[in-house]
Amino acid sequence: MRIFIAGATGVIGRRLVPLLVADGHEVTALSRRSQVPGVTTVQGDVYDAAALREVVAAARPDVVMHQLTDLTSRDFAANGRIRREGTRNLVDAALAAGVRRVISQSVAWAYEPGDVPADESTSLDLHTADERRRGTVDAVATLEAITAEAPEWVVLRYGLLYGPDTWYTKGGLMADLAAAGQLPANGDVTSFLHIQDAVSAAAAALTWPSGPVNVVDDEPAPATTWLPAFAQSVGAPAPTDSQSASRAPWARGATNTHARSLGWSPSQPTWRTGFFS
Ligand SMILES: NC(=O)c1ccc[n+]([C@@H]2O[C@H](COP(=O)([O-])OP(=O)(O)OC[C@H]3O[C@@H](n4cnc5c(N)ncnc54)[C@H](OP(=O)(O)O)[C@@H]3O)[C@@H](O)[C@H]2O)c1
Repeated sequence: MRIFIAGATGVIGRRLVPLLVADGHEVTALSRRSQVPGVTTVQGDVYDAAALREVVAAARPDVVMHQLTDLTSRDFAANGRIRREGTRNLVDAALAAGVRRVISQSVAWAYEPGDVPADESTSLDLHTADERRRGTVDAVATLEAITAEAPEWVVLRYGLLYGPDTWYTKGGLMADLAAAGQLPANGDVTSFLHIQDAVSAAAAALTWPSGPVNVVDDEPAPATTWLPAFAQSVGAPAPTDSQSASRAPWARGATNTHARSLGWSPSQPTWRTGFFS
C-alpha cells in the first residue's frame, strides 16, 4: 500500500516507518524539520492546510496514518490543538485526495466513569468530566469523530505508553517524578502498553474493520499495584504514600478483547514483566 504518515518522527512513528517499509509498503513521511531515513519525506506543518493538501495529494496514498501528538514540552493545550485542528486539516487533505482509509492515534483513558475496565462500546466521558479533563476528552472525541468521516477508519485507543523513549522508562519524565516521590500510589486504574505493541497495532490496523480499538495490555491495574514495580524498574525508591487508595471514577483501565479478536496480541501482555524488559 501507499501510506502517508503524519507523526513519522515521534516515539511511535519512527518505529512504525521501518516496519511498514519492511512489510513492502511505500511510505511518505511528514515532518516539520527532519528527514526520515529510508522513505520519501515531505517537509510540512499540519497547520498549513493548503500545503498539506498538496503533499497528501502528490503522495496519492491508500492510507493516511495520523500519529501526530504535541507532547514533547508537555503542553496539553498544544496537544489538544493538534487533535482538533491538526486532525481536521489532515483528514480534509485525505478526503480531498480520495484516500479511503485513515488510522488515528487516540487514548484509552477518555471513557466515562465506571467500575470495570472499559470496552469500545463504553461512551466517552463527555458529560461528567471536570473542566481540566474535559479539555482532553473533547479533543479526543473531536479527533475520533473527524477520523470517522473517512470511508474506512480505525481509531487506536492506546494505553499509557512505556518503554524506550517514552515518559515511563529509566531516565524518562515519570522515572524522575517517581524518584522525587511525586507519583501518587493511589487507586487510579491504568492500562499500560509497551511502545513496540503500539507500533505493531498501527501496522495491523491497515486491514482492520472500521471502528475504535483499545490497544492496551492484559492487566489494567491501580497505581498501588503498578507503581512499586515501576519504581523498582527505574531505580526509584518504593512509594510510601499508599495510604490514599482512592480512585478517580473515570480511572478504570480498558480491555483488549476486541483487539485480540482482530488477531493482535501484545508482545508484553503485562507491565509486571514489561517494565523490566
Ligand atoms: N498513549 C500515550 O501514552 C502516548 C502517546 C504519544 C506520546 N506519548 C508520550 O509523549 C512523549 C513525546 O511524544 P513524541 O516523542 O512522539 O513527540 P511529539 O512532540 O508529541 O511529536 C510527535 C510527532 O508529531 C509531529 N508533529 C507535532 N506537531 C506537528 C506539526 N505542527 N506538524 C507536523 N507534524 C507535527 C512530530 O513531527 P516533527 O517534530 O518531525 O515535525 C512528531 O513526528 C513520548 O515520549 C511519550 O511518552 C504518550
